[in-house]
Amino acid sequence: MSGASAAAIALYEQALAELQCYSGDPLATIDEALAESPDFVMAHCLRAYVFVLSTEAQAAPEVQASFDAAASLPSNARERRHLVALRQFLQGSWDGAIGALEDVLIDYPRDALAVQALHLADFFVGDARNLRDHVARVLPEWSPDDSGYHALLGMYAFGLEECGDYRRAEEAGRRAIALNPCDAWAQHAVAHVMEMQGRAQEGIDWMTGRQGFWATNSFFAVHNWWHLALFHLELEQVDRVLALYDGPLRGERSQVVLDLVDASALLWRLYLRGIDTGDRWNELAAAWEPLATDGFYAFNDAHAMMAFVADGRDRAADALLAAQQQAISSSTGNARMTWEVGYPLCSALRAFGRGDYSTCLSLLRPIRSRLNRFGGSHAQRDVFDLTLLEAARRDGHYALLRGLANERIELKPSSPLSRRYRQDAARWAAQTAGIAAI
Ligand SMILES: [Fe+2]
Repeated sequence: MSGASAAAIALYEQALAELQCYSGDPLATIDEALAESPDFVMAHCLRAYVFVLSTEAQAAPEVQASFDAAASLPSNARERRHLVALRQFLQGSWDGAIGALEDVLIDYPRDALAVQALHLADFFVGDARNLRDHVARVLPEWSPDDSGYHALLGMYAFGLEECGDYRRAEEAGRRAIALNPCDAWAQHAVAHVMEMQGRAQEGIDWMTGRQGFWATNSFFAVHNWWHLALFHLELEQVDRVLALYDGPLRGERSQVVLDLVDASALLWRLYLRGIDTGDRWNELAAAWEPLATDGFYAFNDAHAMMAFVADGRDRAADALLAAQQQAISSSTGNARMTWEVGYPLCSALRAFGRGDYSTCLSLLRPIRSRLNRFGGSHAQRDVFDLTLLEAARRDGHYALLRGLANERIELKPSSPLSRRYRQDAARWAAQTAGIAAI
């Protein structure tokens, strides 16, 4: 690694380990490394990746500053490939950055930072196959004795889960945890398996039983709390859901966009069920407003739109849609995401909020199966399936409701919500048959 003293390399390794477990403060650690060795190219790169992968427009100047610092220094071939990836990120090209990170790993499969950055980039573009296979490509080049091996297994677990290979995903996730109990991503991958299989009580036990490992000193804790809340919601324990929202999920009023996404995603599930959430939307929408009118990342836009719709903030909703229209005309990866799914989805959410369920259905149905194109996990995007179901019910489109409820029951036979939707549809079918008989 160019420009680094032994002490700075030790700090870099520490920052990387923190990133791999989503614990501590990797930015503070890497800043210490840079204080020790200001010409440390990979330390500048790590810092830039942390900001890039926050998916926040406001982070762009920090990315630029770290990139400029690294680019002005003497570097080796591997480091220069990282600079290519970061330049692509700065230009808003997810595909370009992913290709460049792939290039790093083709020649340097043991570059742990490249694996980490690539996995998150694959997540933010919703590429399930590469979430699995980019990790698989390098996994045999590592040994279980390597200090970061648990992180590879945790990432592989998540990739397998997103590809629907739940048995192997759980196995890999549990192996990762056995190697490093503090691996919050592996913890999360197993939670995803349980979420997808409707194993809600097991999910609660999995999360609460290991809470000491993932909930303390972790910058990923809010998302893991969100997963715990989803398990409680599945069991219709609404009081528990609200207690988690008011406590660890939203109690600290985080302004981190990834945390706001989880808060919106949870409240919107309650909103769809017609559950009164008091003034919680108001606080959340106010937090979103200064952050969400830049059309920077369509997945975040959708979650901001939920808050604006539910809180009746028409002006903010208009501004968001206008920003998206603006974004579509750019040449970034987000332009395509916004064009393909982000804009119609935000328009659908807006229509839902106005009670125009038929417009909501007509906007949402055609894009539902390709919502992965704007990133996130299956569990996160499920909120849009739930929106479609509820729009069908409120629109009186019971034949569609029956089909959608059937889909869910096939995947999660024990889900009370799915059964209720099917009962609604069945009641309608019985009434229709009765009318026909008369
Ligand atoms: Fe998740």
